[in-house]
Amino acid sequence: MDLNQPNHLLPVPSNPLEIPAAPTIALASSTDAREPPIYFSLIIPTYNECKNIKTIVEKLSQLLDGSIPGDYELIVVDDDSPDRTWEVALSLTFDYPQLRVMRREYERGLSTAVIRGWQVARGEVLGVIDADLQHPPETLLQLLGEIQRGADLAAASRHVAEGGVSDWSVVRRFLSRGAQTLGLVILPGVVGRVSDPMSGYFMVRRTCIAGKMLNPAGYKILIEVLGRGNIRWIGEVGYVFQERQAGESKVTWKQYIEYLRHLVRLRIARWPMGRFLRFGVVGFSGVFVDMGIFYLLRTLLDFGLTRSAMVSSEVAIISNFLWNDLWTFGDISKRQPGKRQRLKRLLKFNTICLMGLILNVLLVNLMFNVFGMNEYLAKLIAIATVTLWNFWINMKLSWRVTDVN
Ligand code: GDD
Ligand code: MN
Repeated sequence: MDLNQPNHLLPVPSNPLEIPAAPTIALASSTDAREPPIYFSLIIPTYNECKNIKTIVEKLSQLLDGSIPGDYELIVVDDDSPDRTWEVALSLTFDYPQLRVMRREYERGLSTAVIRGWQVARGEVLGVIDADLQHPPETLLQLLGEIQRGADLAAASRHVAEGGVSDWSVVRRFLSRGAQTLGLVILPGVVGRVSDPMSGYFMVRRTCIAGKMLNPAGYKILIEVLGRGNIRWIGEVGYVFQERQAGESKVTWKQYIEYLRHLVRLRIARWPMGRFLRFGVVGFSGVFVDMGIFYLLRTLLDFGLTRSAMVSSEVAIISNFLWNDLWTFGDISKRQPGKRQRLKRLLKFNTICLMGLILNVLLVNLMFNVFGMNEYLAKLIAIATVTLWNFWINMKLSWRVTDVN
């Protein structure tokens, strides 16, 4: 059976959601030759799109036949739509030989549909577009232009020049922007890389995500690709999100919950655990330095209580800085040699740690005096919170910002 013969459904991968370095589906015909690689594979995820699928396939084929004839494929990945979109798509394969159809019966979801499509794709460049014509097909050529200019990923954005949404309700606009802001707080290094992280219309070089285990939740496949792929150069093209032609959006509250879950999961996956543990060990050593100096000042030099506490804390901060600069962030500080740079890092580290000290005292008071929490438990929670604060802000400001490549 030749998988490329019209009217044949593609096999549905059931392996983990990993993008193969090369196309995996071989022709099962007599020659048993592997399918020829092509340049571009575009996934069209569908759920109840029987009224739109013919139009989108026609428009995409017209466009791509005019720019990369014979060097692309369209892959409809349908989740066993009640309106039998997969069947309509299959009937189109006679007229559109570059169209392939996958019907998933045991797995559902927009993001995993895209990945399953990419797993059977033959293209060097992997893309996704909605079936409902809300993503204007014409933008595709500009996205391909970005990739041909050298971009690793090209995303259609509603939030750049020539971008926009048709007449979305204020609520939908608010929710979309709110979701984006939340993403910027939890995952600034990922969500902050594009102007429209919610976009479901983009393409990426296979090499940037080959071998990566993708583990998306809900609708936001772009965040997963940005979070786990090796993406250096990102191109963006403005587009206006159109009115739906037929059918209705499948976005429900569930997608927003899934999105939050996805952000947290990516945050944990991308948390620099090794560095954080080193930072914790250094911080722990600082406790001994602080206590030791405090003891010496109080017994040998007979310093007053406050003066001893301040001096010992400051010595501990400097000791922590030196160890962090050498060990925790050594790989980064090595790239910023010189006394001036080191002094800059020390001053930032010091300021952030002193703010941490204030935060510590405020938290203890809040939990003890306002919430009536046990003082030692309050202190422990304050230390843990301030350690996270010190680590994250120092990594972002003291070492990363001055990190000149
Ligand atoms: N296979 C499959 N499985 N396809 C799905 C599923 C699913 O569970 N849910 C939705 N789709 C398909 C729809 O058939 C459509 O082709 C596309 O995914 C988008 O679904 P919509 O329900 O129309 O989403 P939207 O228009 O509200 O939002 C879209 O555009 C936004 C802006 O780019 C989505 O792509 C969002 O992810 C995106 O942020
Ligand atoms: Mn839509």
